Amino acid sequence: MRLQGKNILVTGGASGIGLASVERCLEEGANLVIADLPSSEGDKRARELDAKHSGRCLFVPVDVTSTAEVDALLDKMQAELGSVDGVFNNAGIGNLGASTEVTDDDFHKVIDINLTGVFRVARAALRFMEKQGSGSIVNCASILGVFGQSQTAAYTAAKGGVVNMTRTLALEYATKGIRVNSIGPGYIDTPLLEALDDEMRQFLIDLHPMKRLGRPEEIANAFLFLVSDEASFVTGTNLLVDGGFTAGKS
Ligand SMILES: NC(=O)c1ccc[n+]([C@@H]2O[C@H](COP(=O)([O-])OP(=O)(O)OC[C@H]3O[C@@H](n4cnc5c(N)ncnc54)[C@H](O)[C@@H]3O)[C@@H](O)[C@H]2O)c1
Repeated sequence: MRLQGKNILVTGGASGIGLASVERCLEEGANLVIADLPSSEGDKRARELDAKHSGRCLFVPVDVTSTAEVDALLDKMQAELGSVDGVFNNAGIGNLGASTEVTDDDFHKVIDINLTGVFRVARAALRFMEKQGSGSIVNCASILGVFGQSQTAAYTAAKGGVVNMTRTLALEYATKGIRVNSIGPGYIDTPLLEALDDEMRQFLIDLHPMKRLGRPEEIANAFLFLVSDEASFVTGTNLLVDGGFTAGKS
């Protein structure tokens, strides 16, 4: 068991990459907190997973755009489980549109969830981790944190911010037993991509040299590595898990 007894928080843990990561960590002996919107299926999922695994699985409703809710989430995790060992800062939304059509509200919303939300959760977790003298935070970025793509101005701005903010947090806490890394997934087959028509889906598949989308479990495995002690000398990195997308054109 690679995470025996560790207490791990996954934001956006009710769906897609987050849910796969929750399941993977439970399989490896951890206790999990699924943090997601009240409207998500997080409560139901947590009850099912709690019954299935030896570790505990709790649901805490949270909107990562609220500092008060995020701080209360970390307080609850500490009170219920006794430590904050690992965090997957994974909650996020997509956004597609020509830049001339993107409103201030659209832009702010994506930044508020995908970038400031990541900072809020990291900040609240770091307060506990600093006292513990240990912890591992993994932020979910994207290939679009290191590559541009038409019609994704707000999303690429947020994800690029996540990649570089991760480096800064890693430097700030490197001597305090805390590691901070990010993951850059390629396009992954999750509900986030459900709105795409067949033509767009094929276009995205063809962008990957492996000629397929990734699976949520493939990102969960990368998270498992980074959050575990196996990555004890890894901090400040952006681990790209993308079927070769960022390697170049084949
Ligand atoms: N699917 C992809 O192709 C892909 C590629 C690269 C990066 N990502 C990133 O992976 C992460 C997970 O995405 P996914 O594909 O699993 O999508 P998903 O839609 O299946 O899951 C996202 C989760 O985040 C939650 N969420 C959204 N807004 C929230 C908020 N304000 N507060 C709390 N929770 C909120 C949703 O309820 C949902 O459960 C996101 O950060 C996304 O940007 C996804």
